[in-house]
Amino acid sequence: MKKNSFVWHPNTQMKEWSSFDTIVKAKGMWLTTSNGIHLLDGVGSMWCNVWGHSKPELVNAIMSQSKKVQHSSMFNLTNEPAEKLAKNLIKLSPGMHRVFYSDNGSSAMEIAFKIALQYRKNVGDKNKTKIATLKNGYHGDTFGAMAVGYVPEFFGKFKKQLFPTIQFPVPNGYRIPKGYSFLDYQNFCLDKIETEFSKDGKISTFVMESGAQVAGGVIIFPKEFQKKISNLCKKYDVLLVLDEIATGFGRLGSMIQYTEQKCTPDIVAYGKMLTGGYLTMAATLTSKKIYDSFLGEFNDHRHLFHGHTFTGNPIAAGVANENLRLYQKNNLIDKIQKTSKIFKGYYNEILKLDIVGDIRHKGMLMGIEMVKDKKKKTPINSKVSINKILFEVGKKNGIYLRTLGNIVMLVPPLAISEKELDLLLSRTIDTIKSAQNKLL
Ligand SMILES: Cc1ncc(COP(=O)(O)O)c(C=O)c1O
Repeated sequence: MKKNSFVWHPNTQMKEWSSFDTIVKAKGMWLTTSNGIHLLDGVGSMWCNVWGHSKPELVNAIMSQSKKVQHSSMFNLTNEPAEKLAKNLIKLSPGMHRVFYSDNGSSAMEIAFKIALQYRKNVGDKNKTKIATLKNGYHGDTFGAMAVGYVPEFFGKFKKQLFPTIQFPVPNGYRIPKGYSFLDYQNFCLDKIETEFSKDGKISTFVMESGAQVAGGVIIFPKEFQKKISNLCKKYDVLLVLDEIATGFGRLGSMIQYTEQKCTPDIVAYGKMLTGGYLTMAATLTSKKIYDSFLGEFNDHRHLFHGHTFTGNPIAAGVANENLRLYQKNNLIDKIQKTSKIFKGYYNEILKLDIVGDIRHKGMLMGIEMVKDKKKKTPINSKVSINKILFEVGKKNGIYLRTLGNIVMLVPPLAISEKELDLLLSRTIDTIKSAQNKLL
C-alpha cells in the first residue's frame, strides 16, 4: 500500500491492492491516470455516467449554479433547481405525484421502505407489515437496503442484524432448475408470489429492481414477469416499490423502465444517471395515494421523519435539469437503442471463449458470466480476486473494468459512440482471453 494514502476503498480487500491508479483527467469516454495511461471507461463511473466525462453543458450547469446558491437546505426552505427537477421527474414518471430527495441510491431505497411501511400505519392497516422481494436483488449497502436486497455473499456477516423479509426466486434463463422449461419456471416463481400474497394478507410491500437485477448478476427479467408481479400487487393490495437506480434513465434502453414493463409502481427510486453521473443525488417518487396518507394535523405526527443535510442540493439539481434537457435535445434514448445493437454483433465471439458460459445484455448493460466448466455451468471461483486480475489485464489493454463475482460487467457511459463500444467489446474479449489461464 502506498504509504501516503489514507483512503479505504469500497468493496476492496485492501491488503490485495498495493496501490491504486490515480485518475487525473477524464474526457469523453476516456480516463487518464497520473502515469499517462488512457483507459476506455467500461464501468461508466460505477454505472452512472451518461455523456462521458467533462461534458461542457454539464460542467457549465455546475458552475453557473455554484455562483448563485451552493447549498441551502430543504428544511423550511426550497430552491429553484430542486423545484424544477421535481416537476421534470413527475412529468417523466406516470402515476407519480411527489419527489423526496436524497443523495445516494441506498438512501433513496431506505426512504422508499420507510414511506411504504408508514403508509400502512397512516391508513390504519395493522395487518400489512411485511416486505417481500426477489432473491439476489440489490438496493444498496445500508442496513435496510441490505435487509431487502440481501445478497448472501455481500451481507451474510450482518444477517442476524437485518430485519426479516420474504424472498422469492427469480427466473434466470441460464440457470433453470432441472425439470422446468423457462416458461414453467417463470410461472412457478409467480405462483409462489401469489400463494404468499394470498395467505394471510400480511405483505405490505413488494420491492424489486425494475427491468433487471444488476449487482445480483445481470439477470434480465423475461417479458411480462415484472408486469405480472405488478398485477399481483394490485390484486392483493401490496405496494409495489421499484428500484430504477441502476436500470432507469436509459441504461436498459428506456427512459423510465417501468413504462416499458407496463407496470405502475406506488413508489419508484432514481439515482446514478440522474445528474449525468456528475454529482450525488437520488430521488424517491410516490403516488398521490401514498403522499396524501402523510397529510394531517401537526399533532398527528404522520409526517415523514426523514431528512438528509444535502437533500435537494441546488447544484446537483441544476446539473440534473441540464442532463434531462440534453436527453431530449439529443434523443439519447433512440441513440442508445441504436448503439446497443453493437453488443449483439459480439455475442458469438464472446460465447466462444473457453470460460464464458452466458451473456446477458439489454440496452447499455452486458453481463458476461464466466464458468469453470461450460457443461456443468460451475462458476469460476478463484482464490484471488477475479476483479483484480481482469482489472490489471484490462488496464494493459486500455480499458477500465470492474468485475462482480464471476460476471464481467460492461456498463459504459450511455452516450458512448458505436466506434468506442466496438473498441470496448473487442478489448474486453482480448482481456478475458489473456486472463483466462490465471482465472481457472
Ligand atoms: C439497483 C441499485 N439500487 C441501489 C443502489 C445503491 O445506490 P448507491 O450506491 O448510490 O447507494 C445501487 C448501486 O449500485 C443499485 O444498483
